Amino acid sequence: MTKVLLIHGPNLNLLGMREPDIYGTTTLAQINEMIQQQAAELGMEVTIVQSNHEGELVEAVQQAYDWAQAIIINPAAYTHTSVALRDAIAAVGLPTIEVHLSNIADREDFRHQSLTAPVCAGQISGFGPASYILALHAAKHIIEEEQE
Ligand code: DQA
Repeated sequence: MTKVLLIHGPNLNLLGMREPDIYGTTTLAQINEMIQQQAAELGMEVTIVQSNHEGELVEAVQQAYDWAQAIIINPAAYTHTSVALRDAIAAVGLPTIEVHLSNIADREDFRHQSLTAPVCAGQISGFGPASYILALHAAKHIIEEEQE
């Protein structure tokens, strides 16, 4: 079974009530349910982690080296600030897909730069909760290509 680590970064635990005009009204629990449903259909085992702490996110990425075949990550605000998270993704070397609910290219200037995207296989941004579903398909695609 394909194993994937899926990480939600800071403030994503507040989805549903957080700036609903930008992030929608779907809660993180609902998004996680959608993810698990899709994962089951794709034959993937997804472990989901949410943390507001940069170090915990770094540790989750590091530990994935031992058991995961890919990482899906919404680094949230750390996208734009965290050299540590970028370095962890680069160090571990697992295929990683960056996800954003909102289209970060269409927002404030400071959100246009992603420190993490250059060390990821690709980025999916702007499709709301469906960004995570698209990322599952991308992860499956990458893993299958690697196995060929
Ligand atoms: C986000 C976009 C980030 O700029 C922001 O800091 C977030 C959420 C998104 O999913 O759209 O917290 O990653």
